[in-house]
Amino acid sequence: MDTPEQLEQFQQRIDNGEKIEPKDWMPERYRKQLIRIMSQHAHSEIVGMLPEGNWITRAPSLKRKMVLLAKVQDEAGHGLYLYSGTETLGVTRQDLIEDYLYGNAKYSSIFNYPTLTYADICVIGWLVDGAAIVNQTMLAKSSYGPYSRANVRICKEESFHKKQGYEMLAKMADGTPEQQKMAQDAVNRWWWATLMMFGPHDTDSPNSAELIKWGVKTKTNDELRQHFVDRMVMEAEAIGIELPDPDLTYNEETGHWEFGDIPWDEFWSVVKGDGPMNRERIKARRKAYEEGEWVREAAKEYARKKRLQDEKAS
Ligand code: 3HC
Repeated sequence: MDTPEQLEQFQQRIDNGEKIEPKDWMPERYRKQLIRIMSQHAHSEIVGMLPEGNWITRAPSLKRKMVLLAKVQDEAGHGLYLYSGTETLGVTRQDLIEDYLYGNAKYSSIFNYPTLTYADICVIGWLVDGAAIVNQTMLAKSSYGPYSRANVRICKEESFHKKQGYEMLAKMADGTPEQQKMAQDAVNRWWWATLMMFGPHDTDSPNSAELIKWGVKTKTNDELRQHFVDRMVMEAEAIGIELPDPDLTYNEETGHWEFGDIPWDEFWSVVKGDGPMNRERIKARRKAYEEGEWVREAAKEYARKKRLQDEKAS
């Protein structure tokens, strides 16, 4: 049981801006919340490789193929930092992965949409990685040391991902009428789904208040979404792309862009497993996990033999 004195001292450390490290005392609920958010984040990075990986063989040039390959590999790396970070909280990677593949663990709604044309790859780089940077720059200041440090590194790479997506989209938006149409169509399909990535409105977000009190999140879902919309309006205009929202209006008083209603029914249906690609994504991940069993076994055996050899030598 966490005593009131322990809880107060812990809160004091958070309020002083100290980082909490794996061996420090922490409330059980703080540990549980971190496992939830960090593992959901890790699963999202891994499943996020699927919609883009699908286009590696069809990239329009060698340069684009190399960039996409590097980006998809980066996402795998992000998943690995995050699983390692989550393991510092006393859970095993295997349990986390199995809870996701065969249980109820969540991952980001955004990866349950299909990538229909190459323009979707440009738009994922610009919008999805752009949203991820806004969210994860905030998480890089998180109170939990390993999560904060993982996000610092992730954001450096996401920033390259966003730039390559924006550069490709700008080229496409400046291309032939057919390319322009593809670019605009992809933006139309991804815009609202990207806004949903930030999570429900603050009034419907059961976790935000607690996460903010403990410095895991330092901004709310709505604050981050607004920051993202303000940036994207400017960036879309610069490359001649229209955002598919007739209600977008600049509010002189607040200095922010107001936007239309987000289709929350669609969001919850995707979160509950009924999005356009949920079943396919989970099927592909299970297949990869099951077919990779022998690799994990071989790696474990190699590590065991190496440890024995090292022990003998010392
Ligand atoms: N997709 C799926 N589930 C979501 C969601 C989303 N976009 N947004 C919220 N939810 C779920 C929450 O997980 C929570 O469910 P749970 O209590 O059963 O776990 C429920 O909806 C209520 O939401 P809350 O607002 O109360 O939840 P949080 O306070 O945890 O905020 C969050 C949600 C903003 C997604 C937060 O968890 C977060 O910042 N997570 C870490 C970052 C992350 O996971 N990003 C995913 C994208 S990864 C990525 O972008 C890869 C890159 O390569 C593009």
